[in-house]
Amino acid sequence: MTTRKKIIAANWKMYKDLTESNDFFTFFIENIQDTNAEILIAPSFTNLWHAFEATRDYPIEIIGQNMHEAEEGAYTGEVSAQMLKSIGIKRVILGHSERREYFGETNMILSDKVRTAMANEMKIIFCIGEKQEDRKDENHFKLVESQLRNGLFHLSEKQWESVVIAYEPVWAIGTGETASPEQAQEMHQFIRKTIAGKYNNEVADGVSILYGGSVKPTNAKDLFAQADIDGALVGGASLEVESFIDIISAL
Ligand code: PGA
Repeated sequence: MTTRKKIIAANWKMYKDLTESNDFFTFFIENIQDTNAEILIAPSFTNLWHAFEATRDYPIEIIGQNMHEAEEGAYTGEVSAQMLKSIGIKRVILGHSERREYFGETNMILSDKVRTAMANEMKIIFCIGEKQEDRKDENHFKLVESQLRNGLFHLSEKQWESVVIAYEPVWAIGTGETASPEQAQEMHQFIRKTIAGKYNNEVADGVSILYGGSVKPTNAKDLFAQADIDGALVGGASLEVESFIDIISAL
């Protein structure tokens, strides 16, 4: 029996201004049902502080979507781990495929970000996942293995307590096309086995692995029924407060 955490995380990307964010939380707080899952929400940087304040008395954790790998410096437009920490943020998403694709975040940069997060006692949701062509070429396991190895395998066993993994096949993100529960389970199991191979079963069994990619109220239950799927990282369907609540209920 595993004791690993069940988690539903919302990734709002570059959506919702302050008013929209406040409206979401007003409704969400009033309507959320009791759940054993941890609820994480990642608004834009400009909404972080308000979101943090709005949810202070509730079991909702506000998290960052990204941070820079340097402690501080002349990096116009960037945000540091310490800045996030100073407003109460204790966790950040790293390595989202949109960051990798549009902002040139390589495995090397990401391993630096992971290092900086750990040095600042910042927990992470680390995203990995293959593109359509990787899967077509049957290269998807190798690709995911290399993302794990290059991004996370410099961590100590102890540091893995601060890690959540999100498996997000790029072809399923925002496309409406979800990995089948079996495809997702197969990859989650592979990820866990790869971690066990590098570390041990205890580390592998303790890490929550979320699925991401067009998770909706209609497909959430079947995904969550899989043994190695511990929750979801939700984009589009988390913007709509009622569908986000339904996804939480499905877990
Ligand atoms: P999606 O996004 O749910 O809109 O596919 C998931 C993500 O990018 O984390």
